[in-house]
Amino acid sequence: MPGKLPQEFTLSGLRKGRASVAVVTGAGIDAEAGIPTFRGDQGFYEDKEATYLASVNALEAEPSRVWHWYLKRFVSLHDTHPAHSHFALAKLEAELDEKFLGVITQNISGLHRKAGSQKVFEIHGCIQEMRNLKTGERQPLPNSWVESPPADEELISWRPNVCFFGESYDGFPLPEAEEACNSCDIMLVIGTSGVIPTPVLLSEMAQLSGAVVVNINPHPGKVDKVADMNFRGTAAEYFQEFFYHDQN
Ligand code: APR
Repeated sequence: MPGKLPQEFTLSGLRKGRASVAVVTGAGIDAEAGIPTFRGDQGFYEDKEATYLASVNALEAEPSRVWHWYLKRFVSLHDTHPAHSHFALAKLEAELDEKFLGVITQNISGLHRKAGSQKVFEIHGCIQEMRNLKTGERQPLPNSWVESPPADEELISWRPNVCFFGESYDGFPLPEAEEACNSCDIMLVIGTSGVIPTPVLLSEMAQLSGAVVVNINPHPGKVDKVADMNFRGTAAEYFQEFFYHDQN
């Protein structure tokens, strides 16, 4: 088992329910469901066009092109099933009840909700949602768009409800996420490189409120330095205890 954590910070330690827990997740947990991470080998952003099309400049300059790129991602993620680690977090939430303060995710895949998690703060938005440019009203993308994409006329008054590069977090649940960080005893940070500094800032915020931050990542990254302890393994290895029970 990679890197031994003190018992109280292991999954079985958390399940004793003595501590309130908040969780921050990144692309690493979605990687277990087959979705490439953003950085690293074969990362999503190896394709420079992706970095441009995920920017607010592209959204303003070429909304139709951005929409059609996003619709491809929407379709590709539509039938993706959550991984064991997503289900493990939903199970931990159910067990800890009010002691589970929420999953704060940078992922737009929607897999935490699909796995049954209730308290989910999608701080970068969700690919299954769109927002009306005039009213700000949010709506799910119609499933019919999986088979046949809409005409541009139908798209132009909407935008994906996702946080684009160069945009602020306005309209996304960052205040609720910060509330969870300020109130937890233990914060797990799972599968994020911290290249986008939000997980690092949320970790520092949690520590300032007296929480212990446990970073779960098989590779070193920017969260290492702020975390109180690093579990050098995968999310699946951290949640192994749940899987073991499921298999027997
Ligand atoms: N379990 C845990 N961590 C993993 C696993 C795994 N099975 N597999 C990979 N990782 C780790 C990698 O080591 C890496 O540190 O997941 C991290 C993924 O990092 P990034 O690809 O940079 O993704 P993330 O940190 O979520 O990106 C943040 O950047 O591009 C924006 O909006 C996008 O939300 C995204 C944000």
